[in-house]
Amino acid sequence: MKKIFLRLIPGDGIGVEVTRECRRILRVLEEIHGGVSFTLEEHPWGCRYFLEKGVMMPRDGLSILSECDAILLGAVGYPGVPDHVSLQGLLLPIRQGFDQYVNLRPIRLLEGLPSPLKAASDRGIDFVVIRENSEGEYCGRGAFLDVGTEEEAAVQEARFTRKGTARIVRYAFEYAIGHGRTSVISATKSNALNYSMVFWDRIFEETSKRYPGIDSRSVHVDALAGLMVLRPHVLDVIVASNLFGDILTDLGSALLGSIGVSPSANINPEGRHPSMFEPIHGSAPDIAGKGIANPVGMMWSMVLMLEHLGLADLSSLLIKAVESVIACGRVLTPDLGGTSTTAEVVDEVCRALGGGGEPLRQG
Ligand code: NAD
Ligand code: IPM
Ligand code: MN
Repeated sequence: MKKIFLRLIPGDGIGVEVTRECRRILRVLEEIHGGVSFTLEEHPWGCRYFLEKGVMMPRDGLSILSECDAILLGAVGYPGVPDHVSLQGLLLPIRQGFDQYVNLRPIRLLEGLPSPLKAASDRGIDFVVIRENSEGEYCGRGAFLDVGTEEEAAVQEARFTRKGTARIVRYAFEYAIGHGRTSVISATKSNALNYSMVFWDRIFEETSKRYPGIDSRSVHVDALAGLMVLRPHVLDVIVASNLFGDILTDLGSALLGSIGVSPSANINPEGRHPSMFEPIHGSAPDIAGKGIANPVGMMWSMVLMLEHLGLADLSSLLIKAVESVIACGRVLTPDLGGTSTTAEVVDEVCRALGGGGEPLRQG
């Protein structure tokens, strides 16, 4: 029996709702496989925890999390706690503390997704954003200066290291080769950012020379945003800095019809620390508590997790089940034009997998 130990951080808002429903899927997968068992330990960390205890997670949170095969996270952040406090107290310390320097974000138009783009259904959308996840614009350094004077200012640093930039660019090329992709586009903005992005471009160009079989080019991120809308079918692998990758992937998911459908994998490629899987969306306070959050982003994140754990068979069964439910079009949440609840969509996916989906036992 292969035993998998997962840590679950539901977080806030719809993060709690999508994780509560999606964890049932693991039980169904156990039944189908027969040779794998998932144990789940849940951590109630997030904004409610902060309001009670003054911290987003316990001081030894990272050392608790370090013992597991993978982490599943819903979403973090809720009105009542400033976003920079909640994110700097939970999500970003995990990504950076565990050196999860790759944020892999596939953007793929599954059959039946209601893309707002006219041409999308003919030509398809299927690309992957490899987002730098450990430094850059998210390095957290800066200062408020001359507060309360006429000269008041804020400075926000973006720190790009050779090590950090080279490893993410290399990862993008290796990913392309390993997945039969033929082109890598680097998102730049070196016309305006005359240090950080000039440096980024230089390292991209140096690295690309080692991969002559892959078509490589730099595109300014503003033009790339336009390309994503006008000709998304030409995109294959995009490598982007932390901030650019963040923005491009919400746009990418919107091209699929909803921010609620796209997944992400925060990967520590060397396996020295656990990797973390979470949808790209946030806690959506505007729909939280209604039970109508789209669980597809969460389920697809579990697909990425299963693949990462070496369970490729279960990973492909799950994505096929999700695809079949979307393609059928009968059970969809309101963001995709349907009237179903989160629970009903997950029920339908469990049925497509051929199981009942009872609650999974606690670790
Ligand atoms: P958001 O992604 O929460 O919501 C943006 C819009 O998309 C909202 O209208 C929301 O209703 C909709 N939406 C998002 N996910 C959906 C889903 N699964 N189903 C249906 N509709 C969905 O972004 P925001 O409003 O900018 O952020 C809200 C909070 O979440 C903030 O505190 C922010 O910092 C946090 N946030 C956390 C994460 C994370 O934990 N990874 C990601 C993004 C935002
Ligand atoms: C995401 C989110 C986070 C990010 C925020 C909440 C810090 O938008 O995971 O996409 O910017 O990385
Ligand atoms: Mn984001």
